Amino acid sequence: MLPTASHVRQQFLDFFASKGHHIVPSAPLVVKDDPTLLFINSGMAPFKDYFLGNKPAPHQRVADTQKCLRVSGKHNDLEEVGYDTYHHTLFEMLGNWSFGDYFKTEAIAWAWELLTEVYQLPKDRLYVTYFEGDAGDGLGADTETQQLWRQYTSDDRILPGNKKDNFWEMGDTGPCGPCTEIHIDLRDEAEVAATPGRELVNADHPQVVEIWNNVFMEFQRLADKSLIKLPQQHVDTGMGFERLMMAVSGVKSNYDTDVFQPLIRFISEAAGVAYTGGMEKTDIAMRVLADHVRAIAFTIADGQLPSNVKAGYVIRRILRRAVRYQFSSLGFKQPFLYTLVPVLADQMRAIFPELKQQQQFVQRVIEEEEISFLKTLENGLRRLESLEESFRQNGGRIDGKTAFELSDTFGFPLDLTALIAREKGLSVDAEGFQQELEQQKNRSRNAQEAEQSDWVTVHDAEEQPQFVGYDQEQAPARILRYRRTDRKGKTEYQVVLDQTPFYAESGGQVGDTGYLESDLSKVRVLDTKKENDLIVHTVLDLPQDLDAEFTARYDAARKDQIRRNHTATHLLQAALREVVGPHVQQKGSLVNEKLLRFDFSHFTKVTDDQLRQVETLVNQKIRQQIPLDERRNVPIDEAKSLGATALFGEKYGDFVRVITFDPGFSVELCGGTHVRTTGDIGFFKITSESAVGAGVRRIEAVTAEAAEAYVNQQLDLLQQVREALGNPQHLIPSIEKQSEEMAGLRKQIEQFAQQSINQQKEQLAVQVKPLHGVNFLAAQVQAASADALKKLAYDLRQTVPNLVAVLGADIDGKPQLAVMLDDELAKAGKLNATTLVRELAKEIQGGGGGQPFFATAGGKNAAGLSAAIGRAEALVGQGLG
Ligand code: ALA
Repeated sequence: MLPTASHVRQQFLDFFASKGHHIVPSAPLVVKDDPTLLFINSGMAPFKDYFLGNKPAPHQRVADTQKCLRVSGKHNDLEEVGYDTYHHTLFEMLGNWSFGDYFKTEAIAWAWELLTEVYQLPKDRLYVTYFEGDAGDGLGADTETQQLWRQYTSDDRILPGNKKDNFWEMGDTGPCGPCTEIHIDLRDEAEVAATPGRELVNADHPQVVEIWNNVFMEFQRLADKSLIKLPQQHVDTGMGFERLMMAVSGVKSNYDTDVFQPLIRFISEAAGVAYTGGMEKTDIAMRVLADHVRAIAFTIADGQLPSNVKAGYVIRRILRRAVRYQFSSLGFKQPFLYTLVPVLADQMRAIFPELKQQQQFVQRVIEEEEISFLKTLENGLRRLESLEESFRQNGGRIDGKTAFELSDTFGFPLDLTALIAREKGLSVDAEGFQQELEQQKNRSRNAQEAEQSDWVTVHDAEEQPQFVGYDQEQAPARILRYRRTDRKGKTEYQVVLDQTPFYAESGGQVGDTGYLESDLSKVRVLDTKKENDLIVHTVLDLPQDLDAEFTARYDAARKDQIRRNHTATHLLQAALREVVGPHVQQKGSLVNEKLLRFDFSHFTKVTDDQLRQVETLVNQKIRQQIPLDERRNVPIDEAKSLGATALFGEKYGDFVRVITFDPGFSVELCGGTHVRTTGDIGFFKITSESAVGAGVRRIEAVTAEAAEAYVNQQLDLLQQVREALGNPQHLIPSIEKQSEEMAGLRKQIEQFAQQSINQQKEQLAVQVKPLHGVNFLAAQVQAASADALKKLAYDLRQTVPNLVAVLGADIDGKPQLAVMLDDELAKAGKLNATTLVRELAKEIQGGGGGQPFFATAGGKNAAGLSAAIGRAEALVGQGLG
């Protein structure tokens, strides 16, 4: 029996709990307020602030299992996944942390104890590494770590490592430090005897792998690449859970453990192909699916929908990679990936319940994405087919540009294009493809790049910077630090204040604008954003007197509007749950001074009737003037027991803020700013309801003056309609009457048109004359539309046998030609309607086309019609003669 994932995970958490660690849940995968990171890419990312000293850690010793995603930025393993047995997109990182508490001695002792005593991994299969130093960074070897290891293992298992392997950095900037890695050799005895494990450490061997990294954080890397010491020393560790599972299960692949086996079995059964664990294309595809569904499902459960930008785009790309493999290697031509979600949700139910709780929603989103991507794939295949002939004419090769277009527009990676090419006996210009790819990369690099300087300290922070905006509109403030940003030739500055009333964009509420004012200067604050936990104000210019005392004041009128819209959003959410159903979950929100936009999970259109009920309910709550009940620092468990609505994918601390408007109606965990009583909102009006994607609807609404303006606009429109209709006393009957009249008139016109066609037909039949054995007719006729002209031509063919007709008409100043041939004549091939009409169209400066027996042309020069008709006889004569 394989050890179960839940048991092994629990052993880790229990072990560190016994060493005084506080166990915390995994943070959501999607990072909200860190411009350097899209996804949590390591166990330490959610704790970055504690390392940087931006915020004190609530517990000095912490342990957890953290969902991580390495698919963008500095740590990106995506292309490896499927081809080897130990790289993943989503993985769990088990971690223990010391925030300014224990350091190397305890970390190393505990790591050894856990691995060798609790997990009973064989000591003679473990190798450890230490940092050998780096001259460029002015750092010596970490001999302290080397010495500590000597208590547990022999020198031939303690290996030095370079900066790449043994100096860990979270990103280009940020906290970092030397690390010691623990590697395990899982090969068979014979192989071990032939090649000692120490020679394979850090050599990409699939069975000699790193399982645990212990980082000793003491430095911070700055943008200019230099290092400074952190205020305190910390320990950051990360053990790849899936690899640990491989080690304790005594197997040679992560995919052979309890973590992946249920998924692999499910896929293999559905595909009707056995999983051999090898490098067959079906094996690779099964690993890709089993891996990717985890990344996709958990990201969606954490609130990130697939989209065309940023984190959403990364997810879309992973999903498409999975679909490509299931489509081309496993033969799934219909959506399949989404059917794995229930298997995964059940597996993870106890440790990550968020997936089970949203299973249906997540499945729906994935299925829709699959459907739409499969369509794109089909279009791509069709495009390839349509170009096939030209590839053959050009040496049987798909050129680089087309291969790139297929990848960029249709999501065909080069290997898929190559595969299809091979099946058709074609080749692909791989070099040309790479060139195109490089060019595109350069283009996007140039488009993004912003240069940001390091922070410059003006005042040292005596305490944590304070946010006072819940109670104050303005506050005395000093600039603690500032930094310069240059983007596309535009310079801005960011400043951090010791205290600020400015609300930083979060939870959908936009950041405040306003002023920083001293005796000497006044600068405009353009925006306020959160960066990790710092409140960062964007200003266009730096004040001259940087170290002066300022008054920081936000724009109060704008803020009032924002407050109204934010509270209205809470009321809207509560009303939706009452009217539409309790399944309504927030999936996105925007609150600014103009409007509120609320995205929520719901599978069908919200009916007009429901919208009206929602609006009525919200307005009732407004008129009830329900006072705001704001509670800060409520323990999270207490808040939940109040029935507070929490969001999936939101990271909550131990203490939260609870916003209540009537405990029986709306209780939410929220950091935003709100009105004092619902009455302040004045009036609420929904302006639109639409779909944003699979299973997600969007409502936009306005409040107060904006709502009045909206209603007035609608009334004005109505008034204009009324006037346009000549101010009838009863609007609707009058419109109905007009429509009826119009329908009657249309019918009459059609009758007249038909009559005119019939008359013309008779007249034209008389003009038919014999020409080289056919019945020839060329004439200018009256026709109200191109359709009418066509009808006339078809009617004539019915009555005149062996017909060749050239008809011209001036339709509201636009010349139109039609050539009609008897079927047999067209088949005989001497004449072709399309060729004829193109030639004649020259006279009217136009062009056209159609079929061999009937073709039409439009042109610019109506005066040329008679010339065209005149030439017809000679042209037809030529063809026949
Ligand atoms: N932060 C370290 C890592 O991710 C532990 O490897």
